[in-house]
Amino acid sequence: MAAAAIINAALATGREGQAHLSFRGLRKVYADGVAALDGVTAHVARGEFCVVLGPSGSGKSTLLRAVNGLTDLTAGEMVLGDTVLTPKTLHSIRRRVAMVHQQFNLVERVSVAANVLSGAVAEVPGWRAMLGWYPPALRQRTCEVVARVGLDELHLTRRASALSGGQQQRVGIARALLLKPEIILADEPVASLDPAISREVLGLLREAAREQGATVLCSLHQTDLAREFADRIIGMRKGRVVFDGKPALFDARAEAELYEGLAVPGAEPKEKIYA
Ligand SMILES: Nc1ncnc2c1ncn2[C@@H]1O[C@H](COP(=O)(O)OP(=O)(O)OP(=O)(O)O)[C@@H](O)[C@H]1O
Ligand SMILES: [Mg+2]
Repeated sequence: MAAAAIINAALATGREGQAHLSFRGLRKVYADGVAALDGVTAHVARGEFCVVLGPSGSGKSTLLRAVNGLTDLTAGEMVLGDTVLTPKTLHSIRRRVAMVHQQFNLVERVSVAANVLSGAVAEVPGWRAMLGWYPPALRQRTCEVVARVGLDELHLTRRASALSGGQQQRVGIARALLLKPEIILADEPVASLDPAISREVLGLLREAAREQGATVLCSLHQTDLAREFADRIIGMRKGRVVFDGKPALFDARAEAELYEGLAVPGAEPKEKIYA
C-alpha cells in the first residue's frame, strides 16, 4: 500500500468511533472488470456536509448509491449508525436515507404537492398513494417543507413542469426532507443550474439539513462550491480516496493531484493533505 493510502486509512480508523456513515474497504467491480470503487474507507460524522469531488468516472455516484444499497458491493461494508447494510437491513436503512437528483426526477405533469408527497410513498399503502389519500399529518408536513425551501403556498397546486430549474430542485429538496431523513444523498444536485442559483440551492440544502441534524453526502464538479459549502471534502480518483480533509486543506496542489493525478515535485507531505 502506498504511504498516502496508509496514512489515510489510519486517520480514517481514528474517525470511525464518531461516524454516522462508515465505508469500510468498499469495492465495486463491474462485469467488464472496471473497479468503480477500489478499496474506499471513509467516515462521515453526524451532521456533516460532506462533498465528494473527483473527475468523471472516479466513482462518486457509485459511492453515493452504496449508501442506500443501489450499488451491489463486491466487497466491504457500508454502516449507517450501528447498522451494517445487508439484504435484511436494506429496507430499514432506505427509510433513513433520502436522495436529491441532478435532473430533479420530478413527475412533471403532476403538482408540486404530489411530487413532494411521493417522498412518502414507502410509508403509505400503494392504493392510497394512487388515489392521493395521504394522512393529514403528511399533508401538513408537505406544506412545512415547501415553505422551508422558499416556495410559496401557491406553488403547491402548480404542475412541476411550470417551475424553473432552481424551483424544481427546491421541490426535490422538499421531497427529500419530507420524512426527516438522517442522511441526504445529493448526486450533483446543481449540475443543471446556473452559478447564482447553484449557490442558493446548495445553501438551502446545507441549512435545511443542519436544522434537522441530517448528514449530507453531496457530489459536485465545482471545486469552488465545494470549498464554500463543505464541512469536509472527500476526493476520489479511479475508485480510490486520494483526499480526505477540511476544505481549507484542499489547495491548488491537492486539486491538481485530484483532477490531473499530478505528483508535484517538492510537494508538501501527504500528512498535510489527509488532515
Ligand atoms: N452499470 C455500470 N456498468 C459498468 N460500468 C459502470 C456502471 N456504472 C458505472 N460504471 C463505471 O464505473 C466507474 C465509476 O462511475 P461513476 O458513475 O460512479 O462515476 P462518477 O464519479 O459519478 O462520474 P460522473 O462525474 O461522470 O458522474 C466509471 O468507470 C463508469 O464507467
Ligand atoms: Mg456521477
